[in-house]
Amino acid sequence: MNFAITTLFAGALLFATVASAKDKPGVSKQPFGKTPSGEEVSIYTLKNSNGMTAEITNYGGIIVKLTAPDKNGKYEDVVLGFNSLDDYVKDNSPYFGALIGRYGNRIGQGIFTLNGKTYTLAKNNEPNGIPCALHGGLKGFDKVVWKAEPLLVKNTAGLKLEYLSKDGEEGYPGNLKVTVTYWLTNKNEVKIDYSAVTDKPTPVNLTNHSYFNLKGEGNGDILDHELILNADKFTPVDKGLIPTGKLESVKGTPFDFTSVHKIGERVEENNEQLKIARGYDHNWVLNHKGNKLSLAASVYEPTTGRFLEVFTTQPGIQFYCGNFLDGSLKGKSGKPYNFRNGFALETQHFPDSPNHPNFPNTILKPGETLKSTTIFKLSTK
Ligand code: BGC
Repeated sequence: MNFAITTLFAGALLFATVASAKDKPGVSKQPFGKTPSGEEVSIYTLKNSNGMTAEITNYGGIIVKLTAPDKNGKYEDVVLGFNSLDDYVKDNSPYFGALIGRYGNRIGQGIFTLNGKTYTLAKNNEPNGIPCALHGGLKGFDKVVWKAEPLLVKNTAGLKLEYLSKDGEEGYPGNLKVTVTYWLTNKNEVKIDYSAVTDKPTPVNLTNHSYFNLKGEGNGDILDHELILNADKFTPVDKGLIPTGKLESVKGTPFDFTSVHKIGERVEENNEQLKIARGYDHNWVLNHKGNKLSLAASVYEPTTGRFLEVFTTQPGIQFYCGNFLDGSLKGKSGKPYNFRNGFALETQHFPDSPNHPNFPNTILKPGETLKSTTIFKLSTK
């Protein structure tokens, strides 16, 4: 059966009919509170045929919770996040689980020039004292309320989110209509389909900022996780964490994850790039050519046997190992998130692309439709 549930009432009804059957995919909806300006926000629980669940709120399109089985079939929540909307609304949430836009990662000095006109963006970040625009600005797509529609298509639970980013928002040109659809497939994949259209040329770089800990959120650091990145090159950064514009070979450096390495194995090596960013916080240039959905990264956690594979159509991936987590935030199970207690694999175009003509194009023009897909697949080995 192929159908979409269009009203929330129908969504609730649907869940009521499937909630008792553990193996039936479906979507349920619960209130998640109100934003400071009084907008009602919901949380949607997507369930697949194996009993895996993803809880997603239409505030920031945030994946709040994602359960996955270990090698003994024990389900645990493998993403970092908070229990309450208030904690996400506070300024200090480091983008846990959120949708990122209009431009993921940094734009140097918050300035770019397009068709002879210079645009100045809101500056909201200052690595090593050097200001820039990060993840869409002061109020990026992670801090807005998205229109939400629960879906059940071909026995797969989904959530369609839509947002209109107005001309001039955070300094960006053009009305940008964004649609992001999350699917929780029956192959234990979180599949994210992004699309966007605009009425003026504008830079766009959309991603999701989930922090994973395959031991379960709150269960310590991620240094023993074993990582592979399908990338022979990365984009080194300057002191402000802005790409220099070079595509550098990873060969012979701690950035070489073309064969398996533990995240913690070389992260403290005496390397200038690691020092600047306090660890891994860089964009890798994926080996695949064109926009074919391809394996970009995999991560294995030996004690639980959990295995995460990341597939994407995007040209880059930001691997960030939680260097700015410092124990000041308490997560869902009440435990503090300390240094390197989670890692993010943000599939994306390269940071600061509008200022680097040699990087793949990020300018979306009227009449074009941006489309990209990323899959986070969970299994065990
Ligand atoms: C960036 C980090 C930043 C983090 C936000 C990552 O995508 O690369 O530099 O601190 O997001 O928490």
